[in-house]
Amino acid sequence: MIFMRFLISGGAGFIGSNYVKHIVETDPTAKCMVLDSLTYAGNIMNIKAEIESKSIGFVCGDITNTLLVSKLFEDYSPDIVINFAAESHVDRSIESSDIFIRSNVMGAHNLLNIAKNMWQIHDSEYREGTRFIQISTDEVYGSLGKDGDFTENTPLNPRSPYSASKASADLIAGSFHETYDFPLIITRCSNNYGPHQFPEKLIPLMIKNILDGKQLPIYGDGKNIRDWIHVSDHCKAIDTLVHDGKIGEIYNVGARSEKQNIEIVKILIDTVRSLVMDDKSYQIDHNINIEKINYDLLSFVKDRPGHDFRYSLDNSKILRKTDWKPEIKFEDGITDTIRWYLDNYSWVQDIEAGRYEKYNNKHRM
Ligand SMILES: NC(=O)c1ccc[n+]([C@@H]2O[C@H](COP(=O)([O-])OP(=O)(O)OC[C@H]3O[C@@H](n4cnc5c(N)ncnc54)[C@H](O)[C@@H]3O)[C@@H](O)[C@H]2O)c1
Repeated sequence: MIFMRFLISGGAGFIGSNYVKHIVETDPTAKCMVLDSLTYAGNIMNIKAEIESKSIGFVCGDITNTLLVSKLFEDYSPDIVINFAAESHVDRSIESSDIFIRSNVMGAHNLLNIAKNMWQIHDSEYREGTRFIQISTDEVYGSLGKDGDFTENTPLNPRSPYSASKASADLIAGSFHETYDFPLIITRCSNNYGPHQFPEKLIPLMIKNILDGKQLPIYGDGKNIRDWIHVSDHCKAIDTLVHDGKIGEIYNVGARSEKQNIEIVKILIDTVRSLVMDDKSYQIDHNINIEKINYDLLSFVKDRPGHDFRYSLDNSKILRKTDWKPEIKFEDGITDTIRWYLDNYSWVQDIEAGRYEKYNNKHRM
C-alpha cells in the first residue's frame, strides 16, 4: 500500500483547512504536514482538533523561506505538495500589492524550486508518485461581459494585483513543467463559500453584518456576477486530481452557479431571517432583533477600482476527464453555511476581537 505524504501550504486558511479536514476524514493512511505562516487570514483554530489529535503535523513558517522549506523537505520528504498559501483578498491587493508579489509569486517559486531540486532524480525523471498542485483561481482569466465563459485555453488577462500575482505563479509553475518536466497540475477554481472563511470576504462579512444589525456594503450597483462553488466540492475536486489528474494539465473547477452580488446578499438576508425565525435560540444567543433583518440593510458603496464584471467557469474538462462532479446545490450549501456561522459565531467574534492572534502566537516560532 502507498502512504501519501502531503505538504499542505496555507492549510490554516479557509480552503486549506477544509482540505486538511477532508484528507483526515477520508484517508486515514495519509500523512499531512501543514506549513502556514499564520498571516491575519491564517487561524490555527481552524485545524486545532487535527493538530491536537496528532492527525497532522504543523510548522509555522513562510513559503518564501528557502532554508525552512528545504529543511522541511529533507525531514518530512513529502510526495504531494498542495500550495494554497497566498494573500487572497483583492481589496487588500489594491491597497498594497507588495506582500501579494512576495507570497503569491516568490513564495510559489520557492516551493516549486525546492520541490524540483528535491524530487528530481535526473533530467525529466522524478521520484515516483511526486506531484505539485498549484491552487489557482478563475480570476487569472480577467473579466467577461454578459456572455461566454472561461475555458482552460482562455488567455490570461488578470486585472487586479491579486489576480496578476496568481497568474504569474501559474506561468512560473507552467514553465517548470515545460522546461524540467516537473510533475505539476494547476487548478483554477471559481469563488468558494463555506465554513471557516475569514469574515472580510463577501459571504461571511454579510452574514456577520446581518447578525450584528449593521449595513451591508455592496460595490457599485451590485450586478457584478461571480460563479460559486461550495468549498467541500472544491476539496473533493483537488483530491480527485491528486489521484487521477494528468501531469502538466490545467483544470477549471467550478459548479456552474452564477449569481449577481446583490442576489447573494438578498439570499443571505432571506435565509438568515428564516433560520432565525425557525429557531428562537439563535435570537436569544445572538441578541437579534428580527425586525431589523430586511432589505433596508442594503447599502450601495463606490465601486471597487477595476472591478471585474463577470466570471463564468467552463468546468467541462474536469467533468469529462475525471469522476468528479459538484454535489452541493447553491441553495443547500448556502443554508448550511449560514447555519455554520450561526452555530459557530464565537469563531467570528474571536477573529473580530483579535483573540485568535493569542492562539496563533502560541504556534509562531
Ligand atoms: N477563496 C476563494 O474563493 C478562492 C477561489 C479560487 C482560488 N483560491 C485560491 O485558494 C488558495 C486559498 O485561498 P483561501 O481563500 O483559503 O485563502 P485564505 O486567505 O483564507 O488562506 C491563505 C492561507 O495562506 C497562509 N499564507 C499566506 N501567505 C503565506 C506565506 N507566505 N507562507 C505561508 N503561508 C501563507 C495564510 O496564513 C492563510 O492561512 C489561494 O491560493 C487562493 O488564491 C481561492
